[in-house]
Amino acid sequence: MKSVYLNGQLLPEEQALIPVTDRGFLFGDGVYEIIPAYGGKLFRLDEHLDRLQNSLDGVRIGNPHSVAEWQALLQQLLEANHTSESDYSVYLQITRGSAPRRDHAFPQDIVPTVFASATPIIKPADEIYRQGVSAITLEDTRWKQCHIKAITLLPNILLRQQAVDAGAAEAILLNEGYLTEGAASNVFIVLKGEILTPFKSPELLPGITRDVVLELAQQNNLACREAQISTQQLHEAEEIWITSSTREVLAVTLLDGQLVGDGKPGPLWSSIYTYYQAFKKQLRQTA
Ligand code: PDD
Repeated sequence: MKSVYLNGQLLPEEQALIPVTDRGFLFGDGVYEIIPAYGGKLFRLDEHLDRLQNSLDGVRIGNPHSVAEWQALLQQLLEANHTSESDYSVYLQITRGSAPRRDHAFPQDIVPTVFASATPIIKPADEIYRQGVSAITLEDTRWKQCHIKAITLLPNILLRQQAVDAGAAEAILLNEGYLTEGAASNVFIVLKGEILTPFKSPELLPGITRDVVLELAQQNNLACREAQISTQQLHEAEEIWITSSTREVLAVTLLDGQLVGDGKPGPLWSSIYTYYQAFKKQLRQTA
């Protein structure tokens, strides 16, 4: 039976209920995190909790827990779900809480709602990694604070669905002629042998996988840097990758119906993917 965490308690999922007056339900007034756990170990927990703090600060919700408390409660959640066998993703969400009257402005004396659950990661099949996926470019229609991991995801949902309707795996977003990120991922390109990704800014989520990929490239002496990437450079790229906690590093081999490079995941993708798998394996083996 699946156990979830809700407001201080571990409960069977079907018993975890929130009031219909919760502002997460009424307004999408909350933030979230997705943290992978490999072999029962939380991946880059401090970095995820730092980003959570930034998201909470960005929407003016007080952090209901200290780092030590988060660590203890998430570990308890993992143990209750026997996650040491395979890869799980921990979803955690904090909303501003429940108030009797619906009003856009913050209610007084409100207690945040805290929810967390652990779900097996369903990674794309190996075959998909070997072939790569297709993506389409779309205008980035989201708000100006995309660095906040807000639960209000309607624009991302509509963009991703537009990609799915076009038979593509991801929407790659452009803001006034420049690349921002994917609907649910960060984006890297390889241009003239160099690995590039957009600078961190309020226009994109600072992905934890993005940081890991940059670190792995640097440690292995691959040329990489942050850069402003134009639509034209995106279309000229030899390789394109999308990164996220659940998809890791996945090559885009078809963009807007055109082959990227020779239409196969490229050599730099292959190196980074191998380094990433080794890094995960190391984490599983550490005590
Ligand atoms: N999303 N950008 C956006 C808009 C995202 O939604 C995500 C991940 C990322 C990558 O971040 P990270 O490497 O920390 O997972 C970038 C998660 C997986 C989701 O909402 O399902």
